Amino acid sequence: MSSNDLDGRFAVVAGGSKGLGLATARRLRGAGAAVVTIARTPPETADPLFVRADLSTPEGASAAAAAVTERGGVPDVLVHVTGGSRAPAGGYAALDDHLWQEELGLNLLPAVRLDRALVPGMVARGSGAVVHVTSIQRRMPLHDSTLAYAAAKSALATYSKGLANEVAPRGVRVNSVAPGFIRTDGAEHLLARRMSEGGITREAALGDLMQVLGGIPLGRPAEPEEVAELIAFLVSDRASAVTAAEYIVDGGTIRTL
Ligand SMILES: NC(=O)c1ccc[n+]([C@@H]2O[C@H](COP(=O)([O-])OP(=O)(O)OC[C@H]3O[C@@H](n4cnc5c(N)ncnc54)[C@H](OP(=O)(O)O)[C@@H]3O)[C@@H](O)[C@H]2O)c1
Repeated sequence: MSSNDLDGRFAVVAGGSKGLGLATARRLRGAGAAVVTIARTPPETADPLFVRADLSTPEGASAAAAAVTERGGVPDVLVHVTGGSRAPAGGYAALDDHLWQEELGLNLLPAVRLDRALVPGMVARGSGAVVHVTSIQRRMPLHDSTLAYAAAKSALATYSKGLANEVAPRGVRVNSVAPGFIRTDGAEHLLARRMSEGGITREAALGDLMQVLGGIPLGRPAEPEEVAELIAFLVSDRASAVTAAEYIVDGGTIRTL
């Protein structure tokens, strides 16, 4: 399902080489946008506008912003998908300063740095749409191995709201999307880590994850394309009055208001 509502637009998807980011880049291209993707490794299928950068470092983010500007000028659309968790199991006590820095460096600071470089051009032009991908863990933190990740996503959601309030009067819309369990490489890596740390099968690791989530009322994880569909709506003119909002895509996992 696609429309041409992004014809002629220039879009950037940070973390666009795999999983949700790849699905988002494909969806935005399908709607007519020219899309730059940024990641440390190129996507499997050729992507002429790909930018290789490590967004967890200030140098990587600033080189990526320069490459984006060189490829297409000021973006119309900026989607921050970069993120994930590499911390071990063991609860809060297993998270030393280095791990905290890593989780904040991957889940909060890439968006902060890229926005600081690219949003001023949108503000000067008076138009643009930004989406930050957070996680339901920002409202429902799982403490066994992803507490620092959850806290970083929470900070990202707070930052997103504040930025949205600041730039709305200048014509730039900023929203956040909080996914639950999505079937991606990133989710498979999380399961693989639980398997090796617990010496358990994939089925058992998946069962444990479902248990801590309290199940998914819809009965299944989301496909990356289902989350990409929401992002494509938010960055299009169809969402022209939507800003400073958070959308949850979790099949009903969060049971509370
Ligand atoms: N999957 C889920 O169940 C789930 C649930 C809630 C929230 N989320 C969030 O949704 C987003 C996407 O998740 P996903 O499962 O699609 O992840 P994924 O499959 O691991 O893909 C992550 C993307 O970010 C890039 N990336 C990772 N580290 C990077 C770095 N240092 N610099 C530049 N790019 C980097 C990856 O490419 P390279 O590795 O080549 O750099 C890849 O393109 C993340 O923010 C995640 O926290 C996912």
